[in-house]
Amino acid sequence: MKITVLPGDGIGPEITAAAVEVLTAAGKKFNLSLTFDKQLFGGCAYDATGIPLPEATLASAQGADGVLFGDVGGPKWDGVEPTKRPEKGLLQLRKALGLYCNFRPMQVSKYTAHLSPLKTDLAKGADLLIVRELTGGIYFGEHKEAALVNGVETASDVELYTKPEIERIAKKAFEAAKLRRGKVTSVDKANVLGTSRMWRRIVQQMRDKDYPEIELNHMYVDNCSMQLILNPKQFDVILTNNIFGDILSDEASTIAGSIGLLPSASLGDGTGLYEPIHGSAPDIAGKGIANPLGTILSAAMLLRYSLKQEAAAKAVEKAVETVMDAGYRTADLATPELKKVSTQEMGHLVAQALAK
Ligand code: IPM
Ligand code: MG
Repeated sequence: MKITVLPGDGIGPEITAAAVEVLTAAGKKFNLSLTFDKQLFGGCAYDATGIPLPEATLASAQGADGVLFGDVGGPKWDGVEPTKRPEKGLLQLRKALGLYCNFRPMQVSKYTAHLSPLKTDLAKGADLLIVRELTGGIYFGEHKEAALVNGVETASDVELYTKPEIERIAKKAFEAAKLRRGKVTSVDKANVLGTSRMWRRIVQQMRDKDYPEIELNHMYVDNCSMQLILNPKQFDVILTNNIFGDILSDEASTIAGSIGLLPSASLGDGTGLYEPIHGSAPDIAGKGIANPLGTILSAAMLLRYSLKQEAAAKAVEKAVETVMDAGYRTADLATPELKKVSTQEMGHLVAQALAK
């Protein structure tokens, strides 16, 4: 089974190296023949080739059973023209691989609950999954960069959704809810937007027709951003569009107390792409202090969803717990009572725990 590895920029190379070490250990233990193909992507690809998503990178990802990704971007590329920015490369890759479904689970783990900006009793036990539509909406609608229109500087971005786009993402959310606590909250802005009114109607019809056992409610996005802080435990699966999901998933992630442990999966009908939810953190790049666990747990999702190796996925998750229970932490979570380790050491520890 071939895994394309896209380290990307900033801390990407360090954290993906740790996750590859863990995947290699998982491969040994569970007798999977895994091969890794490392490719340029993002700002580093722009520097080397002039574009963020080189053809060889795309070809490798298209031919892979799963893609492991760090992150892209950084202030170095802020001045690059919009069509060649590292972030644009990521949007292109999502589109090219048909990754319309983004899973962003947020669990307040026992290791970080005390670090939540919410009162501990509000945060503790919160466990939700954001299902974000990833290849449509305003991020992919027609963009007009700033230009003079009738003498006035004007720019626009179009929000557009089709019924099949809404149906396929809603299906993923309903199916995910069946394996969880059976509740879906669909988030929109139906009091203002036509796309949202269509979204709400289609999601409700699907629930009534195909998923009567699912509890469905609808919530405006502004209210949802409030409810996440007031009572995050009311949510099981949150289903929403591209831009609302982008914003709400960042908000939800802070509730966990640390973004260092949170994984994500981007899925379509073929290869999936797996990445930690945090950014490329250029300010700490190359120092060996980044937390690789979000990437390692993303690798567990790769084993689960793309390679269909549930036992190996669980073993990786268990190994992370073993290492955390033994008191090892990277700099972001270290306190004087705990054992501080580097990015690389954390990778070794998880790989060793897995091999046992
Ligand atoms: C994310 C990121 C991306 C997005 C950027 C880098 C294009 O913020 O994965 O949430 O907005 O989708
Ligand atoms: Mg984002």
